Amino acid sequence: MKAELIAKFTSRQARVAVVGLGYVGLPLAVVFAEAGFNITGIDVDLEKMQALNRGESYIQDIPTDRVAPLVESGALSGTTDFQVLKEMDAVSVCVPTPLRKTGDPDLSYIVSAVEDMKAYVHPGMVVVLESTTYPGSTREILLPILTGDNVLEVGENFFLAFSPERVDPGREDWTTENTPKVVGGITADCTEVIAAWYGAALDTVVPVSSTEVAEMSKLLENTFRMINIGLVNEMALMCDRLEIDVWEVIEAAATKPFGYMKFTPGPGLGGHCIPIDPLYLSWKLRGLHYNTRFINLASEINANMPRYVVSKVQDALNQREKPLKGSRVLVLGAAYKPDVDDLRESPALDVIGLLREKGAEVRFHDPYIPKVRHDGWNLHSVGDLLSEVEDADCVVMVTDHSSYDMQAVYQAASLIVDTRNAFGGISDQGKKIYSL
Ligand SMILES: NC(=O)c1ccc[n+]([C@@H]2O[C@H](COP(=O)([O-])OP(=O)(O)OC[C@H]3O[C@@H](n4cnc5c(N)ncnc54)[C@H](O)[C@@H]3O)[C@@H](O)[C@H]2O)c1
Repeated sequence: MKAELIAKFTSRQARVAVVGLGYVGLPLAVVFAEAGFNITGIDVDLEKMQALNRGESYIQDIPTDRVAPLVESGALSGTTDFQVLKEMDAVSVCVPTPLRKTGDPDLSYIVSAVEDMKAYVHPGMVVVLESTTYPGSTREILLPILTGDNVLEVGENFFLAFSPERVDPGREDWTTENTPKVVGGITADCTEVIAAWYGAALDTVVPVSSTEVAEMSKLLENTFRMINIGLVNEMALMCDRLEIDVWEVIEAAATKPFGYMKFTPGPGLGGHCIPIDPLYLSWKLRGLHYNTRFINLASEINANMPRYVVSKVQDALNQREKPLKGSRVLVLGAAYKPDVDDLRESPALDVIGLLREKGAEVRFHDPYIPKVRHDGWNLHSVGDLLSEVEDADCVVMVTDHSSYDMQAVYQAASLIVDTRNAFGGISDQGKKIYSL
């Protein structure tokens, strides 16, 4: 069975499905289709599947030009019906893994998707989990659900693996195709079969010895980022006390050609991965009576950054003898990082909420995000950027989208709090910039 499957993958004869066609699943489906596989996307969101079947992309990184010909040729299609899995040789699962309100992992999307798949996963089939999760999830959650009725025997007539997605939305140099892909199976044969499948579409596959190693490698990558961002954010707090320009310090340190990697401070963590994934690890370890100190400390520092930004706005207004309460504050950029339309976990949400709590009259502008509804408030992105900048008592640069003309914003503004060093290149003759 293993050899037969590997042959189907290398000849691209295998019929493949992707479950969950969001930021991760749609690009993966497109890459498989472009490599010559016949792909069926399965998503509970009917509107997304209808858009896909019209050949339209709804993910910023994937242009409609790339999707339309694949749909037209029949290589890519979407459905909400899990029954299609009966005809498939392989399926990748890319559903969300958020946190519950309590901060604990929410695996309900994985469980629900796998429960819906279970009746159709058949002998001779391959299943890969892509959703980021704590080590042990593939073996402890997927394996018992899928093999519960004793028809499927993992490593024999059914192959199961974890392969973490590494996509960095908005990035053009490293894409789904050329970013090396780690693959770890429940058994060595599982790894081999899935490596053959992914290897037929992606440039580099990195096989590892188990699903746990693959799951943990993703958490190491994201925890590494989260902790280093926490470190550099604390460096910003320390430099503030010492009255040293943290941005100049960072540039100086970054000239070291070895043993240093540049991270920059900011208004807090955002996105679906970095603020969340390390908390999956700390939750898992808590159950083993282990306290993940680095993660907890970095989380605390990063989570306090929006509050620090608001204190900077207060200090800046204070210099102009204005209270924050009643002042008009314009937040520039709501997305969690530049040049994306993704608002998930964006620190802008906290910055806006805290400014509102303190009585500021807050507006925001974001070229990618027309409106924001969060925690009982609802704001629309302002229309005329520069006239809003002129009218604001303080402008807060939260997300430095590349379309912003910093010189023009600087000229129009009376006061700026810059959380990203976006105005770093501008000579502040008017003494209006307060940097993090
Ligand atoms: N976005 C990223 O940059 C990124 C990067 C690396 C890893 N990841 C991980 O990949 C996973 C998916 O993230 P995403 O950003 O693509 O999420 P997303 O919300 O953009 O997409 C998930 C899709 O799954 C669908 N879905 C939800 N429940 C379903 C179900 N039961 N059956 C079928 N479809 C279902 C949703 O409708 C949605 O279209 C997460 O675990 C995330 O941590 C995300």
